Amino acid sequence: MESDSWKSVAQSSDAMKMMAEGLRRSSETNDATESPIFKEVIRHLGESRTVLDIGAGVGRFTGPLASAGCDVTAIEPADEMQSPLVDTLTRYNVRDKVRVVQSPWPAQESFQAEVSLAAFVIQFADDPVEFARTMENAATRRCILAVHVDPMMAFLQDLWPLFHPGQAAPKMRVFADIYPQLLAVGIVADVRVFSEQHGPRFADPKAAVDMLAVRLGIRDDAAAVARLRDILQTRSQDMVQTDPRRAAVISWQPR
Ligand SMILES: C[S@@+](CC[C@H](N)C(=O)[O-])C[C@H]1O[C@@H](n2cnc3c(N)ncnc32)[C@H](O)[C@@H]1O
Repeated sequence: MESDSWKSVAQSSDAMKMMAEGLRRSSETNDATESPIFKEVIRHLGESRTVLDIGAGVGRFTGPLASAGCDVTAIEPADEMQSPLVDTLTRYNVRDKVRVVQSPWPAQESFQAEVSLAAFVIQFADDPVEFARTMENAATRRCILAVHVDPMMAFLQDLWPLFHPGQAAPKMRVFADIYPQLLAVGIVADVRVFSEQHGPRFADPKAAVDMLAVRLGIRDDAAAVARLRDILQTRSQDMVQTDPRRAAVISWQPR
């Protein structure tokens, strides 16, 4: 079972700022149009080329999709993502073409698009089935999810019990948790697993201490941070290794 501790760690303001920075870097260094996620959206567009980008983040897909002539509505609840999202849209010169709605999904307002996309978002949802069903209500042609196959914060599993004895380590929902839930309600989707090479986990090993202190929720505890620094010194090689990760594109025709 997923522990609530994961949510408080992953969705704290510090963690969201860190996520925004990671996504911004990825958006600037990778060509999203080469991604199987982008290609799956393009493949299923109809005449109006409308896309709902749910949990758009900093616009890693919103910018390239709008630039490819899609009429995109970006839905993104987090304050920390709003300004980097606008920056990305400005960089792609599509600021005026994209409607940005600051809201969580499922949203109060009703939306309609040919394709509803949620890339690496459903793991945050309280109810993944409701999340997917409301994507279906909004889409006329295709629903597309991207989810991690390999967990993103696996290294926290070892570290967590050292700082939070007796507490369950944070666990993020991955493909193996999400897909069976969809199957159980009759969503039989096409699945394509792909692999992405992520750069050094921490380009600067010193940055690992700050990042992990936030993830572990110990940033304000100087003694714990010092202890973490000592532990990481013995693992510095591991911290700079490149990290191939698999993700799945889950794609289905809405009811
Ligand atoms: C890992 S990022 C992915 C961003 C973007 N889709 C991408 O692939 O670059 C996850 C995003 O989902 C957003 N998010 C979290 N819960 C959400 C919800 N219930 N509805 C919509 N977005 C959500 C977060 O604020 C964050 O920006």
